[in-house]
Amino acid sequence: MLNKKYLPISLNDIPRFSPWPRRLLGLDEWRPVKRDREKVAAEYDRDKYARCLAFFNGAVVRPTVENVRDIEFKDDKQPTCASIGDELFLAPFMDAYDDYYALIAENILPLIEKGTTVVELGCGYGYNLAMLQKRSTVSCTFRGGEYSQNAVELAGKLFEGQEESIKVELFDFYDSSYHILDDISGPIVLFTAGAVEQIPDIQNFFSVLPRYKDKVKVVIHCEPVYEFQSDDLLGLLRKRYMEVNDYNRNLASQLKNYAGDIEIIKQEKNVFGLNALNPASVIQWRFRR
Ligand SMILES: C[S@@+](CC[C@H](N)C(=O)[O-])C[C@H]1O[C@@H](n2cnc3c(N)ncnc32)[C@H](O)[C@@H]1O
Repeated sequence: MLNKKYLPISLNDIPRFSPWPRRLLGLDEWRPVKRDREKVAAEYDRDKYARCLAFFNGAVVRPTVENVRDIEFKDDKQPTCASIGDELFLAPFMDAYDDYYALIAENILPLIEKGTTVVELGCGYGYNLAMLQKRSTVSCTFRGGEYSQNAVELAGKLFEGQEESIKVELFDFYDSSYHILDDISGPIVLFTAGAVEQIPDIQNFFSVLPRYKDKVKVVIHCEPVYEFQSDDLLGLLRKRYMEVNDYNRNLASQLKNYAGDIEIIKQEKNVFGLNALNPASVIQWRFRR
């Protein structure tokens, strides 16, 4: 249901609320980035998560995961240009984030059964996992994999003493083996949210994951999908946004390449955008048995 605080806006209105149309049209300076490990380390490990970890370490009263998230978003309080499908809205920042978490929760919680391990790859310091743990009524385990050392260290402090039920460890999508999955006996509900986004070419994930197909029950991506964008004006802006930020551009193509081994269970295009130019689609798939 549409959040009552969302104000509908038109495509023409976006430049009033977002710097991106001017950048994409070359009217304001913007240098396309190369999204490699160094870029991720600079944007997440040394900036966002280092700030969150410093906050945790400096706090007098032990912070909760929600307190840390408030610090993560402390500079992002302006209303955001959000989207539901191709409809655009001006949305209070935290309301839009609440809807992002709701999207994740409604796609993951129904898949959890007793004894399941829920794994998020590219999980930051584990906010989504903690959120799911709070909302889950079923006894299960939560594991996260993350590239940023600072985020893993922060998660270790946030979830200290609860490691049996929730834990984050070092992980890299580009690794030749996913050790995080070796230690889990299964069944695994594996998801990504805005993390495949960070990997321009996700081919390696699809080469490595089949090794774990006996325990990975289902995979869910809440991710922007380049190939789902149309050639209308909004679709073109979205494609260009993903190109200049060097976000992933082959998730849907990889799923198609592996169609003999993989069965798509659900596919919802551009369901919700915290940023209207980078909306999350939901894809749920499993290995064919
Ligand atoms: C946009 S954030 C999303 C975090 C979290 N999934 C969420 O929904 O809030 C992208 C995350 O992907 C992580 N990441 C980027 N490249 C990665 C890689 N090669 N391996 C593992 N994680 C990576 C980043 O460090 C960051 O935590």
